[in-house]
Amino acid sequence: MTVNLQSLLLYIVFTVFTGCSAVTPVFVQKGKDITLDVMTDGFHEDDVIFWSFNTSSVIVRFLPGKEPSVSEVYTGRVEFPQKKYSVTLKNLQESDSGVYTGRLIGNKEQILAGYTIAVQVSPVKLTVDSVSSSSDSCNLTVTCSTQDSDITSRVTCDTTTCHQEGGESSKVTTSGASLRLYLVNSTINCNHSNQVSWTNDTKETGQVCPQFTGKNQRQNNQLAVMYSLELSQLEIMSC
Ligand SMILES: *[C@@H]1O[C@H](CO)[C@@H](O)[C@H](O)[C@H]1NC(C)=O
Ligand SMILES: *[C@@H]1O[C@H](CO)[C@@H](O)[C@H](O)[C@H]1NC(C)=O
Ligand SMILES: *[C@@H]1O[C@H](CO)[C@@H](O)[C@H](O)[C@H]1NC(C)=O
Ligand SMILES: *[C@@H]1O[C@H](CO)[C@@H](O)[C@H](O)[C@H]1NC(C)=O
Ligand SMILES: *[C@@H]1O[C@H](CO)[C@@H](O)[C@H](O)[C@H]1NC(C)=O
Repeated sequence: MTVNLQSLLLYIVFTVFTGCSAVTPVFVQKGKDITLDVMTDGFHEDDVIFWSFNTSSVIVRFLPGKEPSVSEVYTGRVEFPQKKYSVTLKNLQESDSGVYTGRLIGNKEQILAGYTIAVQVSPVKLTVDSVSSSSDSCNLTVTCSTQDSDITSRVTCDTTTCHQEGGESSKVTTSGASLRLYLVNSTINCNHSNQVSWTNDTKETGQVCPQFTGKNQRQNNQLAVMYSLELSQLEIMSC
């Protein structure tokens, strides 16, 4: 019962502290590691130190005279650097974004460190898988890929414009980010985004199908003008 009361009290203190104390904001690229440090020293032998995520889940407990005890969900994802009570979280994913708190449970309860970690999306790469080109059309298959996801689409160009088959293509990646592949005029765009960041890559259809788009539009207009001139000349001649 006393234990329950104590942990309830702890929870309240903890919530209030994380709600208003200064936390260090950190931006980390997806897949990278981060080390959480306690920002004080002068610990006692019998201090108990906890690291937790978003107030609810404990990552690791340092109990006196024992090896650090890692929670099941974090097994294999944490390492312990030289510095006492520090924890390195490996291979951060978008779902790891949130508040990390280090706290001491001893004679007095104390928040030792707070971090707000925002995991940014990884870079994207837009590649052309195949090109088939004839005198009046050019078709591409393009793939936009990230570390853990990809999306493929077909783009068809005729002598005046390009269009994407089925229109914009998008998906939500396993890590909760969104991946979008779309065409703006003659530019193919790929955008990978989450709540805190985005990355993109683009490709000009004109680079892949140089004989099409834009340039040809003007040529066509010129041809049309010449053609109508010829027509009017013909008309004059036939008069
Ligand atoms: C953790 O907290 C942050 C901010 O309070 C929230 O955006 C995120 O969804 C939470 N993550 C989990 C897994 O609960
Ligand atoms: C490109 O695709 C269109 C529509 O699917 C097709 O009519 C055309 O023949 C294709 N062109 C080439 C060069 O493959
Ligand atoms: C796309 O083309 C339209 C019409 O030509 C033009 O108004 C617009 O600015 C272009 N958009 C971009 C992003 O180039
Ligand atoms: C990518 O998507 C994000 C989120 O929708 C948006 O804020 C950003 O402007 C987009 N970037 C480009 C280059 O379109
Ligand atoms: C990302 O999008 C911006 C805005 O549209 C563009 O200026 C930039 O060139 C793009 N980056 C890449 C790598 O294509």
